[in-house]
Amino acid sequence: MNSPKKILCIGAGYVGTPTMAVIARHCPQHKITVVDINAERSAQWNSDTLPSYEPGLDEIVKAVRGKNLFFTTDVPPAIREADIIFVSVNTPTKQFGAGAGMAADLQYWERTARQILEHSKSPKIIVEKSTLPVKTAQAMERILDAAAAPIRFDVLSNPEFLAEGTAIEDLEHPDRVLIGSQETIEGLAARDQLVALYENWVPRDRIITSNIWSSELSKLVANAFLAQRISSINAVSALCEKTGADISEVALAVGTDHRVGRYFLNASVGFGGSCFKKDILNLVYICRHYGLHEAADYWNGVLKINDYQTERFVLNMLGAMHNTLADKQIALFGFAFKANTGDTRESPAILVARRLLDEKACVAITDPKALDNARKDLAGLSGRIRYEEDPYAAAAGADAIAVLTEWDLYRGLDYAKIFAAMNKPAFVFDGRNILDHHALHRLGFNVYAIGKSPLSSFA
Ligand code: UDX
Ligand code: UDX
Repeated sequence: MNSPKKILCIGAGYVGTPTMAVIARHCPQHKITVVDINAERSAQWNSDTLPSYEPGLDEIVKAVRGKNLFFTTDVPPAIREADIIFVSVNTPTKQFGAGAGMAADLQYWERTARQILEHSKSPKIIVEKSTLPVKTAQAMERILDAAAAPIRFDVLSNPEFLAEGTAIEDLEHPDRVLIGSQETIEGLAARDQLVALYENWVPRDRIITSNIWSSELSKLVANAFLAQRISSINAVSALCEKTGADISEVALAVGTDHRVGRYFLNASVGFGGSCFKKDILNLVYICRHYGLHEAADYWNGVLKINDYQTERFVLNMLGAMHNTLADKQIALFGFAFKANTGDTRESPAILVARRLLDEKACVAITDPKALDNARKDLAGLSGRIRYEEDPYAAAAGADAIAVLTEWDLYRGLDYAKIFAAMNKPAFVFDGRNILDHHALHRLGFNVYAIGKSPLSSFA
């Protein structure tokens, strides 16, 4: 697709903006517009301080913004002029009515479909970027078919597999790009246009095409598989703590089998992020809808183990610290759901902080990027919470440190200095297994890691 096109993305979020920025960089012939109903967010994308931190994004946005990448809140003209519209609005878990707590809340998505219908005067390709329940494209088509004067809309599914913190790398060098279409002449022609867009930088053999339902379902299943690996290793970590086996050694031994693979086998305090829980709930809901209760229970087990793992982490802290945390000071190292992002959606740190406050502990939170979000997440909670930019300040006077995000910076701290400034006995609970546990123990810390025997005078 090398003739100049007008491309629109609705939703300037964690997914929409990086994706459009990378398309803009590789396709100078096309004009890319990103609209968002949130005027503040749009203004931030147009400013020097972008609304979310993502390594490498700042440079790309600043290089292409105003050339072939534009941010606006003015939806109608943007829809009117577009040839291709990516829909990347959020699809959170529904909080009300039928399917509450499980199904996807499609109200933003449907509103967007109606907006497209209202303002379109010419044929368009509509691309689902948002993660949606399988068969949602059908609903989109039905809404768009309701046009008074018939306009041709072709709906494609093109789920995004980027992970936060590595979004730019993932977009630049994707394992695969998946494009699902209707298997009609028009559907296949629309698909070819999207294939041609990606071919501007993605090798053709990495662009997979499929029917539209396979594409929608594959996104849910891909996330469910990744999360399933983490829950599997986390379930084993509990057993390691009881048996003297070491989870890192087990993960290495298992993961070096090329049929298993070594990725996503890091035991942790639990997975977080906006996608895993939401998408698995969605998968479970769809299975139940079709009466596939055994399949639903299987996937629900992935979520149960994740909750169990975070809860277990807190109970281990409580047990190690003589069954009372009241008035003890705990420094939380990291609040983001993973390293290299300020995003805290579904972060296990939220649950850990709440549970520690329930136990009447004092909590000092430090994180290089996520303190603003942490303040919002914990707003209104009663209890003693401090927010510290500096990890040394967070740990000063503390009884324990709990590592909740795998930020590199926590590996390189001067733990002798930290130990000297802490209350004794001093504890470290490494919820990401990133620290040198034996070195910490030699300094005098009582060390508790995930899936490993404690190095502690109290164990
Ligand atoms: C995306 C996908 O859309 C979601 O389905 C997937 O599972 C995860 O990634 P994300 O980009 O993380 O979501 O969401 P968010 O950062 O909340 O961005 C969505 C944006 O859409 C927000 O900026 C919101 O203001 C905007 N929006 C929402 C609209 O512009 N119009 C609407 O009607 C609703
Ligand atoms: C995920 C998918 O990886 C991505 O393909 C999809 O598009 C969106 O959802 P994301 O949630 O951004 O991406 O991050 P990811 O790297 O998958 O991590 C998710 C959570 O799992 C984080 O809390 C992370 O810390 C945790 N994790 C990851 C582990 O606990 N152990 C691991 O081995 C890997």
